[in-house]
Amino acid sequence: MNLPHRRGRRGPHDPRGRRRVWALGLLAATAMAVPGTANAAPDATRATTLGAQAAQSGRYFGTAVAAGKLGDTTYSAILNREFNAVTPENEMKWDTIERSRGSFNFGPADQIVGQATSHGQRVRGHTLVWHSQLPSWVGSITDANTLRGVMNNHITTTINHYKGKVFAWDVVNEAFADGGSGQHRPSVFQNVLGDGFIEQAFRTARAADPSAKLCYNDYNIENWSDAKTQAVYRMVRDFKTRGVPIDCVGFQAHFGTGGPPASFQTTLSNFAALGVDVQITELDIAQAPTTAYANTVRACMNVPRCTGITVWGIRDSDSWRAGENPLLFDRGGNKKPAYQSVLTALGGTAATAAHGSPASRAGTAKRSPTALPGSAARPVTSAAALPSAFSWSSSGALMSPKPDATHNIAGLKDPSVVYYNGKYHVFASVASSSGYGLVYLSFTDWSQAGSATHHYLDRGALGTGYRAAPQVFYFAPQKTWYLVYQTGNASYSTNTDISNPNGWSAPRNFYSSMPDIIRQNIGNGYWVDMWVICDSANCYLFSSDDNGHLYRSQTSLAQFPNGFTNTVIAAQDANKYALFEASNVYKVQGTNQYLLIVEAIGSDGRRYFRSWTSGSIAGSWTPLAASESNPFARAANTTFPSGAWTKDISHGEMIRAGYDQTLTIPSCKLQYLYQGKDPAASGDYNSLPWRLGLLTQTNSTC
Ligand code: XIL
Repeated sequence: MNLPHRRGRRGPHDPRGRRRVWALGLLAATAMAVPGTANAAPDATRATTLGAQAAQSGRYFGTAVAAGKLGDTTYSAILNREFNAVTPENEMKWDTIERSRGSFNFGPADQIVGQATSHGQRVRGHTLVWHSQLPSWVGSITDANTLRGVMNNHITTTINHYKGKVFAWDVVNEAFADGGSGQHRPSVFQNVLGDGFIEQAFRTARAADPSAKLCYNDYNIENWSDAKTQAVYRMVRDFKTRGVPIDCVGFQAHFGTGGPPASFQTTLSNFAALGVDVQITELDIAQAPTTAYANTVRACMNVPRCTGITVWGIRDSDSWRAGENPLLFDRGGNKKPAYQSVLTALGGTAATAAHGSPASRAGTAKRSPTALPGSAARPVTSAAALPSAFSWSSSGALMSPKPDATHNIAGLKDPSVVYYNGKYHVFASVASSSGYGLVYLSFTDWSQAGSATHHYLDRGALGTGYRAAPQVFYFAPQKTWYLVYQTGNASYSTNTDISNPNGWSAPRNFYSSMPDIIRQNIGNGYWVDMWVICDSANCYLFSSDDNGHLYRSQTSLAQFPNGFTNTVIAAQDANKYALFEASNVYKVQGTNQYLLIVEAIGSDGRRYFRSWTSGSIAGSWTPLAASESNPFARAANTTFPSGAWTKDISHGEMIRAGYDQTLTIPSCKLQYLYQGKDPAASGDYNSLPWRLGLLTQTNSTC
C-alpha cells in the first residue's frame, strides 16, 4: 500500500517547511537500531511481579490461558497480577476456530483476548497451521489446490479477526520431525502441499497483517547441535535470505527435570543473529527445579533479541503435565520456589520469606531499594515500571484554533503543558498556509480549555516569524521558565512569569549552526522538535530530522543553556517513518526509569507513538510498546467518545507530575495531550485542521 507522495522542499512560500511527509510504504517490522543491549539497566527499579520485572528490560512474561478458567478467581487474580502477556492454550487452534469448513468460532479465544486487552496484556496467537488438534475434515483433504485454499482461508480469516490485537502469531507449529532426519514431519500439509507449505503459510499471514510478528514455533530445538535444531535454523536462514516473511522463532521449552540444555543460550543467540526475535513460548519444567528455571530465564535475558517468556499455565493443576508439577504456582495458587528464582533471574526482588498467597496481592511485596522518601509505604509495583502495553481513552477535541484579525489559523498543534499554580499552562504551534507561530492559553480545568483566551506570542519580544513546536519547563537552578522551540535552529526564550505571554525574551539559539552530524544525516528531512530534559548533573537536548534519526546533545546543569556540544545519534531507524519526529523523554516518578516516545507514521498513513525505556537519559533505549501492533498510543489502542474525531495520535506532551527541568511524569494513569484531526481532511500539510485532545490511560494497574 502506498499513499500519494506529498513531500516538498522548503520553498519561498514555505519558509517554515516542516512536516510535509505523508507518503509511506508499508512499515517494515524493523526494530529501532540503538546501541546497547536489551538487558535491564543496572539501576532499574526492582519489581515484585513477573510481568513488571520483565517489562523493565523491555520483555514480556506471559502464560498460557484457558478460557474456561477465567471465572476461577484464584486463577484470574494471579493471571492479572503477574503476567503481561497471554497465549490461548487451545482456543486458537484449528479444531476450535474452524471445526467445520468455513464456519469460524472465535468465541472462546475472544474471551481471552478481551480479558487480556482490558488488563493491558499482550496476546500471542497460537497457532495457525499445525498437524495436531486439527479437525478431521482438513486431514482428509487430498487435493493440493483445495488444501492450499483451505489453509490460506483459515490463516487470513483468523488473522483478520485479531488484527491489532495479537502482536505475534505462531504461524506454523511443530513442522519438523524429531530425531536425526532433519526432515519435515509427515502431516496433511506436508504430504499434500510438499515442503513449500511453510513458506506459503508465512506469506499468507504477512499479507493478512503486515504488523503482526510471524513466528515459527517448535519443541526439541533448544539444543544447538540437535539435527532438528539445525534443520529449523537452516529454514529460517533460507527464509531470511530469500525474503520469505518471518520475524521470530518460538522455543517451546518443555523441559525435563534437568532443565534447558547447556547450549540453550547459544541456540537463542544464533537464531537471533539471523535477524529474528526469539521467544520462549511454552515453558514448563518437570518438578520445577529452581536452578533449571533460573537458567532458562537467564538464557533469554542474556540475548537482547529474546523478547519474552511464556510459561505454559499458571498453577500445577492447570498444566497439561499436571503429574509433573512443572509450573511456578502450586495447586493452591501459592508461589513455588521456582517463582522466586524466575523473578530474581529477571532482575527482580529476591525471595520473600513466605510464598505469597494469591489473595495477598502486593502484601508480600518488597519495598524498592530506590523508593523515594515518603513513598516507603507503597509497594514497589505502584511506582515501578510502566506496563509493556497501553490502552487509552480520548477526550473529544478540547481546543481549536481561535483566529483573530491578524492571525489566520488553520491548525492548533504541538502542545506543551505544565500544571502550575492551580492552572494548566498550554503552549502550542499555530499553523496556516503562511507558516507557524506560537500561542499560549491557560485554564483551571480541562472543561475550561475550549473557552480559554488564545494569546499569540508574536506580540512580545519573542517576535514574529518561524517559531514552532514549543516545550515549556521551569529551570529550577535559575528560577526561570524556558520555552524551547524550533526556528530553523533550536531556540529558546525565557520568562520569570509563565502566565505573562508578553514576558518571553527574544529568541536565542542553542547552537551556532546545525551540528555536523545532523547536517550529514538529515538528507531531505527537516530539523524539528527540540526537547530538553535534565537529570541532577546534565541537560540534554534532543531533536529529530524527519529522516529516521533522533539526535542528542549534552551540557552540564551549571552551563545550561550554553555548551550543547557532542551531538550524537541517540536512536535511528532505516525506515524514517518508524522514527519520525515529536520525541519526548521523561523521568518516570519514583523509579530510575526514563521513557522515550517518538512519533511514527503507520502503514495506514496515520500518526502514532512508539515507546522505549532506559535507566539513563543517554540510553540505551529498550523497546516498551514500540510496534504498530503494540503501540504506545495509536487510534487502535484508544477509545473515543461518540465516533473517532481523529485517527492520528500526533505530536503532544504528557501531563507531568511537576513542572521543572526533570520532566517527571507519574508512573500511573498517564495523560497525554495530543494533536488530532478530522480523518477526512486532506490538502496542504500546513493548512490541516489540527485540534488538541487529551488521552487518559485506561490500563493502569496502580
Ligand atoms: C497442549 C495443551 O496444553 C493441552 O491442553 C492440549 O490438550 C494439547 O496441547 N505444544 C504446543 C501446545 O504447541 O499447543 C500444546 O498445548 C503443548 C505442546
